[in-house]
Amino acid sequence: MRTLRRLFGTVLPFMFLAMLLTGCRKNQLDNCDLQTPLFSFSSFPIGVAVDDLLLQNDSMYQHICVTQFNRASPENLFKPAFIQPEENLFNWIESDRFVEFLQSKQMRIHGHTLVWHQQNPAWMDQFQGDRTGWESMLRNHIYQIVGRYRSSILSWDVVNEAFMEDGSLRQNFWLQHIGPTYIEKAFRWAHEANPEAKLFYNDYGMETNPTKRNAVIQFFSNLRLKGVPIDGLGLQMHVDIHFTDMIMIEKALQEVAAHHFLLHLSEVDISLNPLGKDYTLNNKDLKDQADMMYRICKSYKSIQPNLQFGITFWGISDQHSWIRSYFNRLDYPLLFDENYVPKPIYCQLKKI
Ligand code: XIL
Repeated sequence: MRTLRRLFGTVLPFMFLAMLLTGCRKNQLDNCDLQTPLFSFSSFPIGVAVDDLLLQNDSMYQHICVTQFNRASPENLFKPAFIQPEENLFNWIESDRFVEFLQSKQMRIHGHTLVWHQQNPAWMDQFQGDRTGWESMLRNHIYQIVGRYRSSILSWDVVNEAFMEDGSLRQNFWLQHIGPTYIEKAFRWAHEANPEAKLFYNDYGMETNPTKRNAVIQFFSNLRLKGVPIDGLGLQMHVDIHFTDMIMIEKALQEVAAHHFLLHLSEVDISLNPLGKDYTLNNKDLKDQADMMYRICKSYKSIQPNLQFGITFWGISDQHSWIRSYFNRLDYPLLFDENYVPKPIYCQLKKI
């Protein structure tokens, strides 16, 4: 009896208080602390673009990459200029190492990208041949890469950025030498090389430009009717905090889903300084960035779950974002700051 009274009088209230305190602390920690991986909060894969050199040489980068994310897109390594720098000379040493390492960490790999108008080797650009010659050159590129990683890379951006803002096809050397059928051919060859792989068309601006989006959706719906193996669309989602029409973004995601394409938000970053002005980082912009990401995720989660292929961020830390080097402007578009400290956008993501 005395023991029972003691239990109710002192031990239980103490235990209750302790549970309450650790519970609260856990909630706080769960949001920003790195011990619980970001991907564990999500029902779909959370990916990141991975730079091969940083992965090898920066231990903190590597640690965050393999602990927070469960999918990786090679940021540059699989682009033609790197993977086939000379005709028929493939740079497998680096790509094999990349794939084996990330696989050993249980990460999925999303192949990026087979056909694009940028980052091609000079020999490809200057290739001499008639239409058949160009076709077999492209077929070989696709067969070799997709075939080699048949068991390890189960999804691919087959064609990247083939459309213009007005919905017309981009004038690139593939269009010039093969004609518009280069797109469907690329998908068929990728499928032949790995019938199991999910195949994507990937582009920017589709989330905010209805003309481009509709053209792309129509084009690939027609191809699919013809039996071309296309599984999904990648909306790159390079956006900025000054674009506030979230209804427009939600509508874009719903339209893609209504046409039964898998949907990959494939290169997400949210710029704070899109015009490249003199800029001082401030809490309001960080909060707007976090809120915008939250809204994007909410919209994404409202589409049919089986079409949610995943969300991939285009980099880990602001310091290494392509926006800084490519556009030469100071910006803070990603989830981690220069010292790999998680930003509000990271913490907010864990609340989805
Ligand atoms: C970018 C890389 O992040 C940069 O390192 C590189 O210098 C240029 O390409 N759309 C794409 C990506 O599909 O492949 C691009 O990646 C960013 C825009």
